[in-house]
Amino acid sequence: METIGTVLITEEQIADAVARMGREISADYDGTSVLLVGILKGAFLTMADLAREMRVPVEFDFMAVSSYGDATKSSGVVRILKDLDQEISDRHVVIVEDIVDTGLTLHYLLENLRVRKPASIEIAALLVKEGIQQIPIDVKYRGFDIPPDFVVGYGLDYGGLYRNLPYITVLDENNLP
Ligand code: IMP
Ligand code: MG
Repeated sequence: METIGTVLITEEQIADAVARMGREISADYDGTSVLLVGILKGAFLTMADLAREMRVPVEFDFMAVSSYGDATKSSGVVRILKDLDQEISDRHVVIVEDIVDTGLTLHYLLENLRVRKPASIEIAALLVKEGIQQIPIDVKYRGFDIPPDFVVGYGLDYGGLYRNLPYITVLDENNLP
């Protein structure tokens, strides 16, 4: 497949970061179990790879939210398209996200999930965009801090495409394929 844009993070760098995040989470939750909550669709690859690096009992659930539509700018409006299948009261929840940009999505999700009284709730995000977060979000487990460019690959899309790229690449918005 043709390479799109400029590769920002290689497949190997992603694997190393996800393994490190898995070790950090496993250490912090040693002796208990974790409910991973993946935010669809973007987090599906991070979730799958992260879970395989974890050494504590793991359960899985997913939420689907829409915040972007097909554009590259956050709308600020978060809509739940699919809610969790299970209750999370007294569970140790780790939300798995592909990327934190404005923080609006996670801010909304944290408020929404905290009401359900989990034992604890933390965030694991593969990417955190530097400098442009509108709402400060405490991302305890993070892969990479990246510049505020629009990126695709490893779960991240532009108009539904490129999620399957095994690396992360910057998409030139003025020169789209
Ligand atoms: P936020 O609400 O602005 O933090 O945006 C979070 C969501 O926007 C992520 O879960 C992604 O689906 C999407 N998003 C933000 N930045 C990018 C990007 O650079 N590429 C692809 N999707 C992005
Ligand atoms: Mg998206």
